[in-house]
Amino acid sequence: MFSKKSIILAPMAGISDRSFRRLCRSFGADFAVSEMVSAKGLVYGDRKSRILLAPDVSDKPHWVQLFGSEPEIIREAAQIALEAGADLIDINMGCPVRKVVKTGAGAALLRQPEAAVGIMRALDRAPAIPYTIKVRTGWDHDTFVLDDFITMATEFNARALTCHPRTAKIMFSGKADWEQLFAAAEKTSLPIIGSGDINDTATAKNHLSRPALSGIMLGRGTYGRPWFFREIKELLLNNQTWRPDSDLRRETIIKHGEFLKEEYGEKHSLLIYRKHLAWYIKGIPGAAALRKQIFTMTDSSAIEDMINELFR
Ligand SMILES: Cc1cc2nc3c(=O)[nH]c(=O)nc-3n(C[C@H](O)[C@H](O)[C@H](O)COP(=O)(O)O)c2cc1C
Repeated sequence: MFSKKSIILAPMAGISDRSFRRLCRSFGADFAVSEMVSAKGLVYGDRKSRILLAPDVSDKPHWVQLFGSEPEIIREAAQIALEAGADLIDINMGCPVRKVVKTGAGAALLRQPEAAVGIMRALDRAPAIPYTIKVRTGWDHDTFVLDDFITMATEFNARALTCHPRTAKIMFSGKADWEQLFAAAEKTSLPIIGSGDINDTATAKNHLSRPALSGIMLGRGTYGRPWFFREIKELLLNNQTWRPDSDLRRETIIKHGEFLKEEYGEKHSLLIYRKHLAWYIKGIPGAAALRKQIFTMTDSSAIEDMINELFR
């Protein structure tokens, strides 16, 4: 799966839903990881967690991220996800958000390597479940654990490891330390994927050129820019600077609204769509006033008229 360098949509809660994954795949994302889904939620039959598993035909292989702390619950949840159409399971071992960490999941696992090993061992048990893990470099500056997690993931047959090279403690502040990530990747044959601060095509090309890396994930750089994948591929394959024209922007934004409507229904989709629209209009003259207006709009046909007007 990771034999050629991949450009991947990062798992982002509230963003990497089925609609956005579908849109990014249409612009050349090689894979797209789902938003994190609660392992416990799946096992205890929570409807909302279950809905997050829904696959899309264009999004194959379907890579579903789970968060949790208990090995057997995670194994059972992974089996539920596979039955629902997932092909690969990613385990979140990097989320620094309090709500997640206090349950022993996400980045809490960086402080409890024995718990992380328990999860990997459970997934590797026959019949083995195809899985990857996603980590940060450590809990804080004094606890660099990336090398150890690579060793454990290799021993328990993870298919790949993604690292967002910041500590959990700094959340999103400062800069991602890619040199730390490259140094760790150079010492292993496990496919290593990097994630963090890739917001322009030159940075993407630069990171991808590092032989030790199997791929990159794009996160916040895709906000209002699902075509970022194509921008990078045009640069890599054709050495071309490519930007979508107004027609393509308009069509994409409208399509995004349609996908969301399909996924969430008319009313709920609007709440999500407005958030994306605020990103899509970034850089347009008068964007600040437009953004305010968008957040008061409740009629999808009025929104469509506005998009048609803005992207003529
Ligand atoms: C809104 C938001 C939600 C996120 N949700 C998740 C998540 O569910 N699982 C995960 O592993 N990482 C999550 N992340 C981290 C991203 O996957 C990514 O590693 C990080 O944002 C760094 O990449 P970037 O600088 O390209 O955004 C999230 C990040 C953001 C901004």
